[in-house]
Amino acid sequence: MASEFKLRDTLLERLSGARHVFVLTGAGMSAESGIPTFRDAMAGLWAKYRPEELATPEAFQADPARVWRWYEERREAVRAAEPHAGHFALVELETLLPAVSIITQNVDGLHQRAGSGTVCELHGNILRSKCHISHRQIGREWIADDNHNPPRSPYVKGGLARPDVVWFGEVLPQDAFDAAMAAAVDADFCLSVGTTSLVQPAASLPLLALEHGAALVEINPQETPLSLHADQCFRGKAAEVLTSIIDQLKA
Ligand code: APR
Repeated sequence: MASEFKLRDTLLERLSGARHVFVLTGAGMSAESGIPTFRDAMAGLWAKYRPEELATPEAFQADPARVWRWYEERREAVRAAEPHAGHFALVELETLLPAVSIITQNVDGLHQRAGSGTVCELHGNILRSKCHISHRQIGREWIADDNHNPPRSPYVKGGLARPDVVWFGEVLPQDAFDAAMAAAVDADFCLSVGTTSLVQPAASLPLLALEHGAALVEINPQETPLSLHADQCFRGKAAEVLTSIIDQLKA
């Protein structure tokens, strides 16, 4: 067993006896599936733009076609990606413990594609579309049939389809965030995987779990502001560390 990813005995004991595990994932969780992190997606053609010029309501208002094109490219990458061993390790964790809540900042749906049951999407899902005025969901058939760029909304005159993701300056879906907070308060073990722990309010959730008595383990090759609060940090990649933790749980 890769010793560098060995959970301390007390933490392995707490994890194997855990009633409810809270898992927060960020872009690093999808990196090994070949999905560029948000900042990496600002490469190539899009390098000349600032995030605010592509992922804000104002940017969409100013140039909806440009924003739609950027998301269409990212959607292609998401459709072409496959979940990795780390995603499947979390699915297995759900079979080994009473309750596991996956709270993700990712918009790629890879946890669900791997088979995870309880996934809470804090920042929406890039493969879904909604009307930019009414925010009502727009089906894929309508999107496929309407050859405008972006497609028009079927609900509101002048409405356009936009990706169902949370843009900078927008609030998180209340129901998702409420569910995430409830899970953080209830959990007795917390895993933070592949996130810089910088973007609020998601970054506050592991601290909320800690405040309510959960053990906290961070998985990230880099140090983050959360590291000093964690009971143990693994400076490794999501797939290798999560599979090692499952092996230890089963041993
Ligand atoms: N395994 C684990 N962690 C990784 C891996 C990996 N294979 N590769 C990179 N990381 C870590 C990086 O060290 C970094 O800390 O994942 C983090 C990715 O950082 P960001 O791209 O900033 O992603 P995230 O923290 O999820 O950003 C939060 O901000 O960009 C917006 O809305 C977007 O949801 C995103 C939010």
